Amino acid sequence: MRLLVAGGAGFIGSNFVHHMIKFHPEDTVVNYDLLTYAGNLENLKDIEDHPTYHFVHGDIRNRELLEYVFDQFDIDTVVNFAAESHVDRSITEPDLFVKSNVLGTQNLLDVAKSKQVTKYLQISTDEVYGSLGADGFFTETTPLAPNSPYSASKASADLMVRAYYETYGMNINITRCSNNYGPYHFPEKLIPLVITNALEDKELPVYGDGQNIRDWLYVEDHCAAIDLVLHKGKPGEVYNVGGHNEKRNIDIVELIVDTLGKSCDLIKHVSDRPGHDRRYAIDPTKIETELGWKPQYTFETAIKKTIQWYLDYEDWWRKIKSGEYMDYYKKQYGSKSYVK
Ligand code: NAD
Ligand code: TYD
Repeated sequence: MRLLVAGGAGFIGSNFVHHMIKFHPEDTVVNYDLLTYAGNLENLKDIEDHPTYHFVHGDIRNRELLEYVFDQFDIDTVVNFAAESHVDRSITEPDLFVKSNVLGTQNLLDVAKSKQVTKYLQISTDEVYGSLGADGFFTETTPLAPNSPYSASKASADLMVRAYYETYGMNINITRCSNNYGPYHFPEKLIPLVITNALEDKELPVYGDGQNIRDWLYVEDHCAAIDLVLHKGKPGEVYNVGGHNEKRNIDIVELIVDTLGKSCDLIKHVSDRPGHDRRYAIDPTKIETELGWKPQYTFETAIKKTIQWYLDYEDWWRKIKSGEYMDYYKKQYGSKSYVK
C-alpha cells in the first residue's frame, strides 16, 4: 500500500502513522499535514527517519501540491484525518472549519478520484448524529443532525464523500468514532486539559453541570479499527467505532483528580458551551460483526496508561502550553463565568 495520511501530525493521525509503521512496515506512509496549531512533528520524532515514512508540509486545499505528491509517491490509498477538530474553536471561528473540513475534503477527494486511488477513507465523528437523550445509541442509519459548526462541517464532508461513491463509483469508506483519548492528545480537549492542569495545580473547568456523557475510545483501538476498514471495508460503507465506555464528564474529571492525588477543590463549574450536546453513545455492532473489530482496552486500564503518558512526556505538553495555545486559553476561559 502507498498510503497518504492527511493530518498525520495531529493526535489520532500521528498515532495511526505509528500503528502503520509498526504493523505494516512494508507500506509507504506519506504524512501530508498543514501543521496548524494542532499539528506537531514532535509526535513523530521517533520514526522521522524510518525508510518508509515521509512528511510533506501541505494543505489539503492545495490541489497542485497534492497532485505532485500523489504522482511522486504513486499514492494508491488515502486516509483523511486533516481537519479543524475542536468544537469550542468552531463556535468562535466557524469559517475556518468550512474551509479545511468541507472545502479541503472535497479537494482531496477530487484529487484522489483523478489519480484513481483504490480506497479513500474519511475519518468522521459520531457528533454528526447530534445529541441523544438518556437512552439509545447511534447506528450507521441514525439521521445526521449536527449541532455545532464543527459537527456540521464534518457532516457536510461526509455527504460529499458519499456523493463521490454514488456519482463516480469511488471506493470510499467513512468511519464515525466517539471521543478518543491517549498519547499526543492536544491539551485543549477535556482529558488532556484536565490531566495537565491538575499536574500544574490549576483550575479544572467543567462546562455546565458536568453531566454530559461521552463514549470514550482509546486511540490505539481506534487505529486498529481504521486499519481493518482500510483493508476490509466494503465499498461505500459507513462504520461506527465506539468503545462501549459511556462516562459523565464530571466522573472523568474526578477520576483524574483522584489518580493524581489532587484536591477536588480544583474542579470549577463554568458557564456551559452553547449548543452543548448532552449524550453521545455508539453502537459498534456493524464493525464488530462484519469486520471482526473489538476494543482491546477497558477504560480503567487505558485512562491509567494515558495519565502515565502525560507524566512521562511532561516536556511534550509543557512546550505546547507555554506557546501560542496560551492566547487561546485566555480567550476561551478568561471570559467564562464560574457558576460554583
Ligand atoms: P487534531 O486537531 O489533533 O489534528 C488535526 C490535524 O490536521 C493536525 O495535524 C492539523 O495540522 C491537520 N490539518 C488541519 N487542517 C489541515 C489542512 N487544511 N490541510 C492539511 N492538514 C490539516 O485532530 P484529531 O483529534 O487527531 O482528529 C483527527 C480526525 O478525527 C479529525 O478529522 C476529527 O474530526 C476526527 N475525530 C476526532 C475525534 C477525537 O476524539 N479527537 C473523535 C471523532 C472524530
Ligand atoms: P471535548 O474534549 O472538547 O470533546 P467534544 O466536545 O468533541 O466531545 O469535550 C468533551 C466533553 O467535555 C464535552 O462534553 C465538553 C466538556 N468539556 C468541559 O467540561 N470542560 C472543558 O474545558 C472542555 C474542553 C470540555
